[in-house]
Amino acid sequence: MSLPESGRVYIAAQIERIRRFSARKKIVFPEGGDSRILEGAGRLAAEGLVEPVLIGKPAAGAPAGLTFIDPADSPLTQKYARLYSERRRAKGITQLEAAEMAARPLWFAALMVNAGDADGTVGSAVYTTADTVRADLQCIDMRPGFRRLSSVHIMAVQDRRYGHDGLLAFSDAAIQVEPSSVELAEMAIATAHTARAVLDTEPHVALLSFSTKGSAKHPLVDKVTQALRYIRERAPELHVDGELQADAALAPAVGQSKAPGSTVAGRANVLVFPDLNSANIGYKLVERLGNGALLAVLFQGLAKPANIVSRGCSAEDVYTTAIITAVQAEGVRAGAT
Ligand SMILES: CC(C)(COP(=O)(O)OP(=O)(O)OC[C@H]1O[C@@H](n2cnc3c(N)ncnc32)[C@H](O)[C@@H]1OP(=O)(O)O)[C@@H](O)C(=O)NCCC(=O)NCCS
Repeated sequence: MSLPESGRVYIAAQIERIRRFSARKKIVFPEGGDSRILEGAGRLAAEGLVEPVLIGKPAAGAPAGLTFIDPADSPLTQKYARLYSERRRAKGITQLEAAEMAARPLWFAALMVNAGDADGTVGSAVYTTADTVRADLQCIDMRPGFRRLSSVHIMAVQDRRYGHDGLLAFSDAAIQVEPSSVELAEMAIATAHTARAVLDTEPHVALLSFSTKGSAKHPLVDKVTQALRYIRERAPELHVDGELQADAALAPAVGQSKAPGSTVAGRANVLVFPDLNSANIGYKLVERLGNGALLAVLFQGLAKPANIVSRGCSAEDVYTTAIITAVQAEGVRAGAT
């Protein structure tokens, strides 16, 4: 699938953006032995975009500019074992268990990010999403005020009239299966922060449903309108509206006729889906039927960037995800996310 122009323009702009940072971001890759990681990280190093740190033994014939750390003989492992054992004290973990966990690549990378020894991590090219999420939840602090990790898919579509110049944030197509209205509200606020940081635009958040502004009555619709009430209490400054059908959220004419007066209808750039079913199906339809492209999957709700690629990823996906992770890390540093 070729990348829509919106995606190419966006990535080129992010490359320019990270070149202007005062220092290159250090991005840690737990799966340092994977050929796609080696290729993607090699390109990032060659272009001077980020400082890649790969977990694992130095690979023979690896591209130049990569730092390898092998937890089996790194002095950092002891430090991270200590940090891990402090974090997990309430779970009754022994020193030996902590040392064993800290040496695992996913845990080592997450602890490295939480300790501030790296600015972000990109994993899950080899390990499963569930294992990666577990490592992140155990090792990285939650962002203050947030209780749940959720994910956002950054999508590029062909028609640049949609979203922010053809870019949209979809949540949550990977983690939370059946969010409650409180969880939906938190997810929407987190996605707005992420969109502000990585899309560099004012978020307009649509809470999606099969109903628009009371056109249908159902407990599933009530869940969304309840989420809207929570968001308005917690983040009154946010442009958010719901419940909205996808066409009312995206198309100005439909938005105007179905939700007149809404500041979001017809101009949404953040789509919050009511559950994992609809979000996951939705982004794949955009990819397949709409020739859209997934640029990156980012986690949110954590205090530091920890993101994933899929196990079917390419070196290009690794490259793009790391660039967006560096942008997200700058947002964390500047307190913008
Ligand atoms: C975390 C996850 C990956 C599963 O892990 P799990 O170990 O089975 O999770 P559990 O439900 O047993 O919870 C384990 C702990 O993590 C916490 N947790 C689980 N999900 C969490 C989230 N999204 N945010 C914060 N904490 C979470 C639980 O509260 C629990 O905490 P505790 O140990 O203090 O009680 C879960 O989010 C998941 O399975 N999501 C679906 C992912 C998926 O299948 N995606 C495929 C589509 S791409």
